Amino acid sequence: MKFFIDTADVESIRKAVELGMCDGVTTNPTLIMKSGKDQKTVIKEIAKIVKGPISVEGISETADGMVKEGEEFSKWAPNIVVKIPMTKEGMKAVRRLAAQGIDTNVTLIFSASQALLAAKAGATYVSPFVGRLDDISEDGLQLIADILEIFRAYDYKTQIIVASIRHPMHVVDSARLGAHIATMPTEVFEKMFKHPLTDKGIAQFKEDYAKTKK
Ligand code: E4P
Repeated sequence: MKFFIDTADVESIRKAVELGMCDGVTTNPTLIMKSGKDQKTVIKEIAKIVKGPISVEGISETADGMVKEGEEFSKWAPNIVVKIPMTKEGMKAVRRLAAQGIDTNVTLIFSASQALLAAKAGATYVSPFVGRLDDISEDGLQLIADILEIFRAYDYKTQIIVASIRHPMHVVDSARLGAHIATMPTEVFEKMFKHPLTDKGIAQFKEDYAKTKK
């Protein structure tokens, strides 16, 4: 399973890269705002340290506007993926960008029908938002299972980026289903390392080792 980091915080990304665990990055306008930098500056900084796909999102609502934004973003680095919202105009833009060889990530996916439409349009990735579905008492992970079943049935090459991840079990359950990618906030990535019995075991072994010294 590939791990993407869902942030525009360059230092957090750098730490994940140093661990060899950052296969890519996803951003959105909210994350860019939190970085306190302008989009082009921060994406170029990220592109200096991340070799994998970096998703960049615009704000256009028309296919023409999205294509224009996508063409501009793709000049910033060779590994830029253009994030496109799940709308009719978005699907037109996906098809046009795909024809130009520009990778797309269809975002704000909340149903299997939306994912199927995005795959038919030629999206490189789809991003179903599991956390936001769970937030409204729907089953985010069931959506991942449904999309995987459909993509496998028709051998679609579109990859699933499980997005809006809230905790490590979202990652684990997505991995059990065979989702291609999990994009997670730094806090979730950090939590994945943690287990109280690991800490307890290390402390115990350290203590016992000290007792063996002459
Ligand atoms: C994905 O690409 C989005 O940036 C992200 O996962 C949204 O997550 P949120 O629901 O925590 O805002």
